[in-house]
Amino acid sequence: MAGYVVVGTQWGDEGKGKIIDVLGDRADYVVRFQGGNNAGHTVVVNGEKFILHLLPSGMLHGQGKCIIGPGVVVDPKVLLKELDTLEEKGAKIDHLFISDRAHLIMPYHIKLDILQEERGGNNKIGTTKRGIGPCYADKFSRVGIRAVDLLDMELFGKKLKLNLDTKNEIFTKIYDTEIMDFDEIFNEYKLYSERLKNRIIDATPEINKALDENKTVLFEGAQAMMLDINYGTYPYVTSSSPTSGGVTTGVGVSPRKIDKVIGVMKAYTTRVGEGPFVTELNDSIGERIREIGGEYGATTGRPRRCGWLDLVVGKYAVDINGLTDVVITKIDVLTGFDTLKICVGYEIDGKVYNSVPAMTEKLYKAKPIYEELEGWKEDITSIREYEKLPENCKKYLKRVEEILGCQITMVSVGPDRVQNIFLKEI
Ligand code: GDP
Ligand code: IMO
Ligand code: MG
Repeated sequence: MAGYVVVGTQWGDEGKGKIIDVLGDRADYVVRFQGGNNAGHTVVVNGEKFILHLLPSGMLHGQGKCIIGPGVVVDPKVLLKELDTLEEKGAKIDHLFISDRAHLIMPYHIKLDILQEERGGNNKIGTTKRGIGPCYADKFSRVGIRAVDLLDMELFGKKLKLNLDTKNEIFTKIYDTEIMDFDEIFNEYKLYSERLKNRIIDATPEINKALDENKTVLFEGAQAMMLDINYGTYPYVTSSSPTSGGVTTGVGVSPRKIDKVIGVMKAYTTRVGEGPFVTELNDSIGERIREIGGEYGATTGRPRRCGWLDLVVGKYAVDINGLTDVVITKIDVLTGFDTLKICVGYEIDGKVYNSVPAMTEKLYKAKPIYEELEGWKEDITSIREYEKLPENCKKYLKRVEEILGCQITMVSVGPDRVQNIFLKEI
């Protein structure tokens, strides 16, 4: 049995896509377990860049099966577009399947997401406006429409009508905006049904069987620790559980079947959207990280907020996910700085915190407590052996590992599939 979970440990965009792709060559299955097309996972193969929003990042190996799991919310329009794009580029796409239990993002979810954000004004979340929150809200209100409903368009029509009646009342009475048309949505989703029906499967028994037969299953997390609905900086979070626990509920797999939980951690921190960010750098250092790191959203193109590595967040991620391994990414971006800082605690109203407090408002006042380390100047992007890294780079990694109390098994030194240093076998 080999169930591997890959999760983000910060606020997303740690390089999960790249790591899934690197580990994907050994996988029989790559399974997304939560989130939707709010994700933007970049995979670079032979200099060619692919950004995947819904498709699992193992797609490009063209082997095994890639599954969009029950816990994911699926916008069929986006999914088909992504499949078409990959096919145009010559990639194999017939190994992609969707769980029949996955919920569908409907056009009214997207409209509601946009309206709610506008109405939020200064309190807006800064969502990706992909309809994620409203879709999960319908799921938990028990009125959602699922992929399985695309297999019976008569039933689909009944569910759509019920939903649309309520949503149209919300549009007219609360938001004073136009209603949405039943026929337009029905006909659109009928086309999606035609194109997707052969890919909609009962995925959970198959994945469990694969694990029982010792096949390798990679569970791909989207978003990250601090965007988790329960443990992130609520309400500035996403509407799913991107932590390792999300695999059990999001795929229907027992925690007993998970062997490794791999946390992807960028060597510094970024955040897109609103919400507190203790180590944020609103200065030339932050700008320099953004430019060198290319820190612009893979989904929305928004500039990402940048700051030093926050290990209060890091340790929180080790604990809550039960990480067995940490993969450090983008350490090449830190090359050239004289001094590097690592946040090891927060000071809030004169009190020192070593864990993330629940009161998000408190986090806005938190002052980072930093340790300083010396930087390095050498280009490290072509290095493939740990011993060859500059001494100060090794010291940085060692110190991070020490504070986290979790082994660093891999270091990524560039966006390409081959730009990795393995410290231990994963
Ligand atoms: P994800 O959402 O966690 O998959 O991450 P994104 O794809 O949104 O953002 C990570 C970005 O960093 C992408 O542009 C990757 O190509 C790039 N990247 C990944 N690993 C490395 C690395 O080690 N070094 C550098 N310079 N870029 C990296
Ligand atoms: P990947 O998988 C970074 C953020 C949004 C917003 C909040 C809620 O590429 O790491 P949502 O649309 O989910 O309701 O937005 O979550 N967010 C992400 N930030 N990377 C992501 O995904 C994100 N997915 C959502 O910016 O702050
Ligand atoms: Mg991303």
